[in-house]
Amino acid sequence: MDSDNFKIINVSKDSVTIEILDSAKFDDQFNIGSYIKIPYKNKENYFIIGIINDYKVKNLDAANPDGESLSNHFVINVQLIGSYGKEKEKFIFTRGSHGIPLPPSNGIELLSKDDYENIYGSSIKDSQRFTFSKLLQNGGIPVRCNGNKFFNKHFAIVGSTGSGKSHTVASVLQQAIKEKEEGFEGLNNSHIIIFDIHGEYQKAFPEGNHINSENIKLPYWLFDSDELSDLFIESSESNSHNQVSQFRFAVTQNKKKHNPLQAQEKIYFDSPFKFSIDEVINYIKNINSELINKKNSRIPEDKTGKKFLNRLPEYFNQEYSFDKTNGDFVKGPYTDDFERFILRLEATIKNPRLKFLFENVDNFSLESVLKQFLGYENKKANITVIDLSGIPFEVLSITVSLISRILFEYGYYYKKMLSERELCETPILLVYEEAHKYVPRSDLVKYRASKNAIERIAKEGRKYGVTLGIVSQRPSEISETIFSQCNNFLVMRLTNPDDQNYVKKLLPDTLADFTNQLSSLQAGEALVIGESIVLPSLIKINFPENEPESTDIPYLELWKQKWKDVDFDSVAKKWKL
Ligand SMILES: Nc1ncnc2c1ncn2[C@@H]1O[C@H](COP(=O)(O)OP(=O)(O)O)[C@@H](O)[C@H]1O
Ligand SMILES: [Mg+2]
Repeated sequence: MDSDNFKIINVSKDSVTIEILDSAKFDDQFNIGSYIKIPYKNKENYFIIGIINDYKVKNLDAANPDGESLSNHFVINVQLIGSYGKEKEKFIFTRGSHGIPLPPSNGIELLSKDDYENIYGSSIKDSQRFTFSKLLQNGGIPVRCNGNKFFNKHFAIVGSTGSGKSHTVASVLQQAIKEKEEGFEGLNNSHIIIFDIHGEYQKAFPEGNHINSENIKLPYWLFDSDELSDLFIESSESNSHNQVSQFRFAVTQNKKKHNPLQAQEKIYFDSPFKFSIDEVINYIKNINSELINKKNSRIPEDKTGKKFLNRLPEYFNQEYSFDKTNGDFVKGPYTDDFERFILRLEATIKNPRLKFLFENVDNFSLESVLKQFLGYENKKANITVIDLSGIPFEVLSITVSLISRILFEYGYYYKKMLSERELCETPILLVYEEAHKYVPRSDLVKYRASKNAIERIAKEGRKYGVTLGIVSQRPSEISETIFSQCNNFLVMRLTNPDDQNYVKKLLPDTLADFTNQLSSLQAGEALVIGESIVLPSLIKINFPENEPESTDIPYLELWKQKWKDVDFDSVAKKWKL
């Protein structure tokens, strides 16, 4: 670059302002997001690196005493982000700005292709290089990031609808599945689970393990206290406290009954042991209808004269009838309290939409449920796509919660099995599409289960080889606990000002101006920030090999076609199912 053509006009701790005297000479080289290098005055091959984050045309309308045309003067603001120099024959980039050596030197240049190669490549070992995108500016140079650092902490992909999030998920994960050490064929050791709320990813991963509401193994007896309460307890009812305590009691006792070989004192309400919901309902019905004989040491006694010295285990066995007409009998502690609770319990387990939770689930084991979600059952698969589109809305949160929780606990116990210093050899990644639906900021009860489960992974998962990929079009509506734990971000086009501001807060001050760009990104373009990448960069994500299912309906094209008849009977049948 011709040094007569620019002038550093302002220098601060972490930025410089440069006036370009004749922009015509630079064609279109200057773009927001382009990097420039400013040489050290007395140190050869050593540069300060900055990024153009703003430019303005200077004094266009001001009076001009020299009569010189000012129309093409412009001023660029450059944020300093690190230094770059040759050390021991190698160019090394160091992040962090220590100001610019004064007085500033001339010779400012845009980074060359070689510079980029050096900068992105130099700090990452070959074995850790992971590439899924190209630089947006500067001729599409592949952007290398550190794959270990990308996956071993949580990452987030955010952007408005249509900005390319799903394609990005597909592209990044397809690349991860493809990566291999030399010397073997077949599957690598990647383990990924996608929570696919719109049913779009089976198409992107045809070789994957595909789970949907028809084939999912999700037995109710694996639910924990939060999840079961969500399913059965109406927290607004005045006696919900009694409902919870009696229900917990019955479930715990029933787990003990069905698992006699276990150390009984180690079976808790939340332990992953089988129990029978029918027997628990028998118990609740019996304490709701029981009558106690005043004359006989206050022991419950049914119509036939059968006495219940201990309510359990007999109350599990069947529903007994009690004689309401006999004046010697008085109510027990819960008699008539649980009418509504019983109705709800029965309605829930008989709800045909929830039959995947209750029907034929006794022969499943914890091991087979885990194998299913981790792609170890039937066919081995690197990626498991859980299509949640057929899961009824009212149990979506607890479904996501249960799966997330058991995968976390799997990691936890796996780690416990290893010695202190051993690392988990099969780390897993959980990807949540539309994450604001499971981990919103909201404290509403209906989100409680999934929010607790995912926040726990956000806080502790890393230690146990369980990390998160959070995908959302509404970053500002996601729990802060989740975002504050994310380390790498792919920020795609964002149009909502609340979301833009939210993302701004994630960026170091020096890069906050970048967010002005976010509303004008094209589909598949993103700002990548985080530990895995040397420089925050504007990138274009590589197009995925297999695309996710499009959710865009071609309205006009369909409307233009000939009138189509609809099979209303079948729709109604499906609906009622
Ligand atoms: N990397 C990319 N390169 C080119 N086009 C892309 C890329 N990613 C997405 N697109 C286009 O953008 C559109 C929306 O992508 P999609 O992934 O469905 O967005 P989102 O999930 O954010 O709603 C798609 O039609 C797709 O063709
Ligand atoms: Mg999408």
